[in-house]
Amino acid sequence: MRKIQMFDTTLRDGEQSPGVHLTTEEKVEIALQLEKLGVDRIEAGFPISSPNEVKNVQAIAKVVRNTSIAALARANIKDIEAAREALKGAATPCLHIVLATSPIHRKYKLNMTKEQVVEKAIQAIHFGKKYFSEIEFSLEDASRTELEFIYQVVDQAIRAGATVINLPDTVGYASPETFGDMFRKVREHVPLIDKVLLSTHCHNDLGMATANTLAAIKAGVDQIEGTINGIGERAGNTSLEEVALALETRQDIYQATSNIVLNEIYPTSELVRHYTGMVVQPNKAIVGDHAFSHESGIHQDGVLKNASTYEIIKPETVGVPSSTIVLGKHSGRHALQQKLAYLGYQLSKEELAHAFEHFKKLIDQKKYVIDDDLHKLVNQDFMNDKT
Ligand code: KIV
Ligand code: ZN
Repeated sequence: MRKIQMFDTTLRDGEQSPGVHLTTEEKVEIALQLEKLGVDRIEAGFPISSPNEVKNVQAIAKVVRNTSIAALARANIKDIEAAREALKGAATPCLHIVLATSPIHRKYKLNMTKEQVVEKAIQAIHFGKKYFSEIEFSLEDASRTELEFIYQVVDQAIRAGATVINLPDTVGYASPETFGDMFRKVREHVPLIDKVLLSTHCHNDLGMATANTLAAIKAGVDQIEGTINGIGERAGNTSLEEVALALETRQDIYQATSNIVLNEIYPTSELVRHYTGMVVQPNKAIVGDHAFSHESGIHQDGVLKNASTYEIIKPETVGVPSSTIVLGKHSGRHALQQKLAYLGYQLSKEELAHAFEHFKKLIDQKKYVIDDDLHKLVNQDFMNDKT
């Protein structure tokens, strides 16, 4: 079974979500939780962005000792010096250098030729190598870069000393088919690729970040990058929890696993939700409030008989205490009986039929019922009827 390395960028790309600003204390607390979650590397920040960011990364590096800490730098001396300062106390530091390679970025952003891009990459890696043994080199916008140019940059980056090569789908443009092909071809055409870790980093602009990441895993990447709850620039990054659970649930397809401690997923998600203030959509896979709740009577009946009828993951596996039966307009008698039993009411068959009639009237007036409604239903409405 292959082990996929999990690179977490909640504190860097995730913090690039509009409106999110984490304090040093919050970043440290999240980093400690990420260490507990078992991620292999934490990207703690982008040190050149502010003097405070240097302090944030230093504070994380000081307390997180069992997980590698990375810091981002563009391919220039100032950025690399800032990352060096930020990571100087880290137990296992990693310098992450990024440089765009696609024609669009070369023309409009960098105003550089292909030759100049290669030269800049080599110079930056050589400079970084003076201070770091671990260097990740990212070809920004790789998914929109000419394949031949990817081979050339990757080959030169490895020769210059990069230890991890990351091919990101920076703008969420890739599809699983094309993205998987890109990695297969890089493995085929760059002989030195087996000397380094091959990584991917996806964005979710077309809602395909997880699918693209899994296609990259199928195509042989060793490391994947993502964030908790999928937060990040624009539509966000790959959700690490989704990939971890896809690997766990579909070992028949991926034949790969990770070091993620699955039952730390929900506590981590809650912490990130709390400090970033970013609401998790209720139907979000794995960590959304509705991920383990059942509303339809048919589903509720199935789950009450055997959870595997409608649950492919046990809630406890990811640290969610239990699944929930939501009483709504599609709920059935079996679910009502269970809920009333849970609230302490053991009803006969006739009483239950009667209570169910009342419940159906009530649910026509409300979107869902809460425990107080049920107490009232049994103790007042329904009892008044009986007397
Ligand atoms: O999306 C991207 O390309 C990035 C790089 C820094 C890896 O965030
Ligand atoms: Zn990104």
